[in-house]
Amino acid sequence: MKKYIYLSGLILSLYSCESTTYESLEEPTVIVEDVTYTANVKSIIDANCIACHAAESTLRPLETYDQVKDAVLNTDLLDRIQRQNGTPGQMPKAGRMPQDKINLILQWNTDGLLEN
Ligand code: HEC
Repeated sequence: MKKYIYLSGLILSLYSCESTTYESLEEPTVIVEDVTYTANVKSIIDANCIACHAAESTLRPLETYDQVKDAVLNTDLLDRIQRQNGTPGQMPKAGRMPQDKINLILQWNTDGLLEN
């Protein structure tokens, strides 16, 4: 009896392993590593924000890791990038970024605002 329970447990765990693998294969985008500023976020900010948020402008600068991290922690940056087009305070002003870019910045925050 003991042997039988052990065996069925083994079979069950093998089976659940397999089904998890299939599920993750079906996911359209699987982010396997933590999102970091250097690898993922900097290029998005450079392309969409620093034309206005440059160090020499009077606006809050978003050119370095510390500046962007500080803005996430101390302003409504995460809220502003999710606002719909035409909503006051939306960033970037010209229009919402593609959802995958917005998601990367949100995931960066979830992963702990890592630099590298
Ligand atoms: C066309 C110029 C322009 C672009 C591009 C732009 N911004 Fe802004 N941003 C502004 C202006 C002007 C303000 C100040 C007025 C306001 O608060 O809405 C501002 C304010 C902000 C603030 C509030 C700062 C504070 O200290 O409270 C944040 C956060 C912000 N922008 C983030 C971003 C992010 C992130 C991007 C890129 C995804 C971006 N902006 C792109 C012009 C721009």
